[in-house]
Amino acid sequence: MKKDGTPAATIWKFNDVGHNHEAREEVKAINLEEVFATPKPERLIQRILTLASNEGDWVLDSFLGSGTTAAVAHKMGRKWIGIELGEHCHTHCLPRLQKVADGTDQGGISKSVKWKGGGGFRYYYLAPSLLKEDKHGNWVIDERYNADMLAAAMAKHEGFKYNPDEEIYWKQGQSTEKDFIFTTTQFVTVETLDKIREEMKPGESLLICCKSFQKSCENQYSEITVKKIPGMLLGRCEFGKDDYSFNIVTMPVDPDAPDFVPPGPAKETTGKKKKNAMKQRELFD
Ligand SMILES: C[S@@+](CC[C@H](N)C(=O)[O-])C[C@H]1O[C@@H](n2cnc3c(N)ncnc32)[C@H](O)[C@@H]1O
Repeated sequence: MKKDGTPAATIWKFNDVGHNHEAREEVKAINLEEVFATPKPERLIQRILTLASNEGDWVLDSFLGSGTTAAVAHKMGRKWIGIELGEHCHTHCLPRLQKVADGTDQGGISKSVKWKGGGGFRYYYLAPSLLKEDKHGNWVIDERYNADMLAAAMAKHEGFKYNPDEEIYWKQGQSTEKDFIFTTTQFVTVETLDKIREEMKPGESLLICCKSFQKSCENQYSEITVKKIPGMLLGRCEFGKDDYSFNIVTMPVDPDAPDFVPPGPAKETTGKKKKNAMKQRELFD
């Protein structure tokens, strides 16, 4: 058996860590119509996580597949991050992890670890790259960004917390109590600035991100900065590459509140938090 190097010192037998058939049965319980092709048995992942991590540690599976690693990590009291680009993220991973959190998943290692449900998780979509090159080689905003998505993305890029004010349209986000951001696709004129300036309270400052603006806006008010969107981002980020357009703009309102909270004993999200969470998620629905 020996070729080069040291031969494996350990053999994991299938009656200890499961086998392909067992893995298939586990994922069939989640989605019978489309059975994921290459699942791992939960017992195998349990062995690996037992050796490699402790309760409360983070587990990352950046090729989530059918979600086995996240499911097992959850049942073993680990925190986890799963990344998946396939459609089965919606059809397999999401329902599976919902069943894990609400305790209805009694397959895999559930019985041996006495899993009854608990905890929660957030489910994010990765946004497309904000800017793309048009056929003339100019950088333009990707048309998949609607006004809300663009405002959220700009707030994130510029270090503001996206949190649109219900009454004052130009207060879309803030970096401090008195520093605001406003993103618009309209042409910004001096009149636009005058109107906003009238509404601003002493000590407040504003960054306006827009596609284009009247030249005279530049030095109109010291407390209002106006910038053009493609220009202000280019040079800071690399755009146009699908594989690392890492543009998550659904920033949680409360970092401790899980997105999916099972009904029952787990804590419910408050009405306001839930409303905000929904509003944020809609950006990428
Ligand atoms: C063999 S499966 C993973 C199995 C899983 N880790 C497990 O333990 O059962 C590989 C998965 O990686 C996903 N994948 C491939 N390239 C990816 C990428 N760049 N980002 C995210 N997921 C990717 C595929 O869609 C596929 O579902």
